[in-house]
Amino acid sequence: MTESDISFLKSVIHDVPDYPIPGIIFRDITGILDDAKAFQLCIDTMKHRYQDLGITKVVGTEARGFLFGAPLALAMGVGFVPVRKPGKLPRETISQTYDLEYGQDTLEIHQDALTKDDVVLMVDDLLATGGTIEATTLLVRSVGATVGHAAFVIGLPGLKGHERLQALNVDVFSMIEYE
Ligand code: PRP
Ligand code: ADE
Repeated sequence: MTESDISFLKSVIHDVPDYPIPGIIFRDITGILDDAKAFQLCIDTMKHRYQDLGITKVVGTEARGFLFGAPLALAMGVGFVPVRKPGKLPRETISQTYDLEYGQDTLEIHQDALTKDDVVLMVDDLLATGGTIEATTLLVRSVGATVGHAAFVIGLPGLKGHERLQALNVDVFSMIEYE
C-alpha cells in the first residue's frame, strides 16, 4: 500500500458522524464496494500479503467480513468459511459468546467447516475492540484448525483491538487506520 493508495481508499470511505450513536464516526465501506478500483485494490493487497503463507481457508465474520473475505478466498484459490450470528447456520455448530461494549453477543461456525490441517486467514472490514475477531479466533481453534493472521481494511488503533489479538498470537494487518 502506497500513501496514494491509502488516500484513495480514504476518499471513497464515507465518514458518518454520530452513527449509530452520538460520538461515533461510522466508517462506511459501501463506498469501497461500489468503486471497482477500490474494491480490487483491497483484494489485491490482501492476496499479495497472504498468498505464500500456506493459507487453506479464509474465514469471514457476518456480515461485512463476508464482503471482503469471499472475494479474497476466490482470488487466493481457497475456500471461504462463514462465521455467523446465532441461529443462521443450518447444521451442527459451535458457539462462542463475547463481550460488547455493553452486553454480550454470540457467533457460530459449522462444526465440520474446518479440519486440523487447515491454516486460516480471518478477514473483516474493520477492527475496533477486537471482540469479534477474538471470538472468531476461539471458534477456529476450537475445531482444531490453525489461525495466526487477521486482515482488515480499516483499523481503529485507539480501541486496542490490535493488542487484544496479539495476546492471542494473531498477527494483525490493517490497510488503513483512523486515530
Ligand atoms: C462490525 C464490524 C466488525 C466489528 C468490529 O460488525 O464489521 O465485524 O463490528 O468491532 P469489534 O472489533 O469491536 O468487535 P457489526 O457487529 O456491526 O456487524 P455487521 O458486520 O453485521 O454490520
Ligand atoms: N464497527 C465498530 N466501530 C465502527 C465504526 N466506527 N465504523 C464502522 N463500523 C464499526
